[in-house]
Amino acid sequence: MKIKVDIGPYKPEPKKIISYKREAPDSFTIRLDWQIEHGPGQFVFCSAPGIGESAISICSDSRNYVDLNIREVGNVTNELGKLQVGDELLVRGPYGTQYPMQDLKGNDFLIIGGGCGVAPLRGVIKYIDGHREDFNDISLFLGFRSPEDALFKDEHEDWDKRHKLFMKFDKMEHENSTACYTGSQGFVTDLVKQEVHDNTNKIAIVCGPPIMIDKTVEILREKGFHDDQIFLSAERLMYCGMARCGRCMIRGKYTCVDGSVFRLDHFEDE
Ligand SMILES: Cc1cc2nc3c(=O)[nH]c(=O)nc-3n(C[C@H](O)[C@H](O)[C@H](O)COP(=O)(O)OP(=O)(O)OC[C@H]3O[C@@H](n4cnc5c(N)ncnc54)[C@H](O)[C@@H]3O)c2cc1C
Ligand code: FES
Repeated sequence: MKIKVDIGPYKPEPKKIISYKREAPDSFTIRLDWQIEHGPGQFVFCSAPGIGESAISICSDSRNYVDLNIREVGNVTNELGKLQVGDELLVRGPYGTQYPMQDLKGNDFLIIGGGCGVAPLRGVIKYIDGHREDFNDISLFLGFRSPEDALFKDEHEDWDKRHKLFMKFDKMEHENSTACYTGSQGFVTDLVKQEVHDNTNKIAIVCGPPIMIDKTVEILREKGFHDDQIFLSAERLMYCGMARCGRCMIRGKYTCVDGSVFRLDHFEDE
């Protein structure tokens, strides 16, 4: 007797890789031939058959394709790093909440990212560029381990022309460095301290390692920001992405469906 297993909404679909770009020694960006409705901040699950699945943020804003930036940190992501243009990747999604861009029209934006946390923020930048008249001044504060580790290097010049781009690197030197960059040594939080003067009509979007998020929130509060002006993306280990396994719960919330984008006052009110 054949047993039919219906995995319903967990069923991944194969999508062709139409471009592949190495961004840094341990990270790459792929473009998938995948037309889906989604908003900035949402994520998908990528499968490495026989190994597992990883949640990965969408870092584009298009109805024609989906870009994903993946850092090779372990079993699944190292396997995904072997993919090439023309291969098919098993994906499911999109999942999670999005930055409520419609409700945030008319504000200045501080887009603050650290390391691979910059990936979902690229989706926000792309959204703003596509709806430029809806938003005021945009400042990008990005931090990476070194210039070599910076993501989306080809786009920095354009971002700097369209917006204000500030960058910091934990260290400036890297063996065999060929990276082209502007920026100085230090932490992204130093930039926030130096360049942000008040909270008037400003929205801050923060994504990065937990310690960077905590420090940034502390500085923003000192500058007069209220928690409803701050959005953050909380990354937790996830399995199902659908509020079923409970793996991602924090403060009584499912990060996979109540987040991963949270307004700070909603994140901290439990
Ligand atoms: C909503 C969301 C969006 C994400 N977006 C991206 C993205 O755009 N690009 C990207 O490269 N990664 C992203 N991640 C992280 C990514 O899912 C993990 O790095 C990946 O699943 C690791 O799987 P692995 O099998 O390669 O590594 P593993 O072998 O499972 O683990 C390697 C190490 O990383 C730790 N780890 C694994 N997953 C996480 C996690 N979610 N948070 C903290 N530590 C973790 C493990 O404990 C272990 O120490 C996102 C995670 C979430 C929850
Ligand atoms: S990942 Fe399973 S409940 Fe959120």
